[in-house]
This record gives sequence, C-alpha cells and structure tokens, in this order.
Amino acid sequence: MVYKYLTNDIIKKIKECRKRFPLKEQCIIPTLHQILEKYRDIPFQALEELAHYLDVPLSDIEGIVSFYDMFRYPKKGAKNHIRICRNLPCHLANYQRILEDIKEITGADIGKPNKMWYIELVECIGSCGIAPAFLINNDLYDGSKIKSKEQLEEILKSYITEEADEHQRQDTKAT
Ligand code: FES
Repeated sequence: MVYKYLTNDIIKKIKECRKRFPLKEQCIIPTLHQILEKYRDIPFQALEELAHYLDVPLSDIEGIVSFYDMFRYPKKGAKNHIRICRNLPCHLANYQRILEDIKEITGADIGKPNKMWYIELVECIGSCGIAPAFLINNDLYDGSKIKSKEQLEEILKSYITEEADEHQRQDTKAT
C-alpha cells in the first residue's frame, strides 16, 4: 500500500510507540492524535492506512474514532478547545484542581465559552495512565506533571500568543 496520509514523521512516531507498548493496538490512539494534529481532520484513507500499517481491523480503528469525542474539530466560536477528562481514574487524580485553575485563568467555564476558550468535561480520553489527563486542542497533557497554577498559566498563554512556544509545552505534554 502507498501511504499518503501516514507521512514519514507519523510512521516514525508509530515505530517509537511500538517500542514503548507491547500491543500494537496501544498505538492507535496516539497515532490518531498525530493524524488529527497534522490534518485537523481524520481522513478515512488515513484510517485505512493505519489499519494496514498496524495490521489491525479497520473496524477497530473506526470504532475508536466514533467512540471518542476528542477526534473532532475544535468547537466553533472559540479559538481553543480544552477537554478535561472526568472519568473515574481522572476523578481520583483530582481533575477538579486542573479544571478550577483553567476556569480561573481563562475566564471561561463549562457551558460559558469566551472568544478564546471552550472548556468541556468529557469521559475517558484514552489516556488513563496519565490521569488527570486533558487536551488543549489536540495536545494531550499529563495533569500530574502540572504542579502549580503558574505552570498551567504558562501553558495556556502559549496558545494565545502569535507564535506559540512549542518548547514551553514539551515538559508537560504527554505525547
Ligand atoms: S479516565 Fe481519564 S483518560 Fe481515561
């Protein structure tokens, strides 16, 4: 198969993922994040290519895409979309701390977005190992690495500056 959507960069990330996880299925969600980040969409052909590359049934990948809200476009009307997992592992890891700080920093709230931020509580985002997990657009964060409100503020700020400081995010980004 000729891969049109699985670029060399994405394939490199899949290979790295395969080294970290024993099951190839564990690399589906991280790769879908890569695809979404690159194309701002999940083209069907990309799913076919991923199924082929990992040698897993296409229906398994389609099931994941349709199950998780996170594989959707950012909400219209706000520049950035924050999704915070509230499912049990993230609940036990005190997702509320992250939520409260984000609300305070952004001035937005659940159901009350502003021009810059749309905050949403979601069920499992497939990253229970790094609870409390949350997404800013398509960037996955490990909330346990965020030790202070100031640290979170720096991360959030990087999404509203013209030239987002990618390096600033790397320390806490989970993928
Ligand atoms: S329970 Fe929060 S990511 Fe799965």
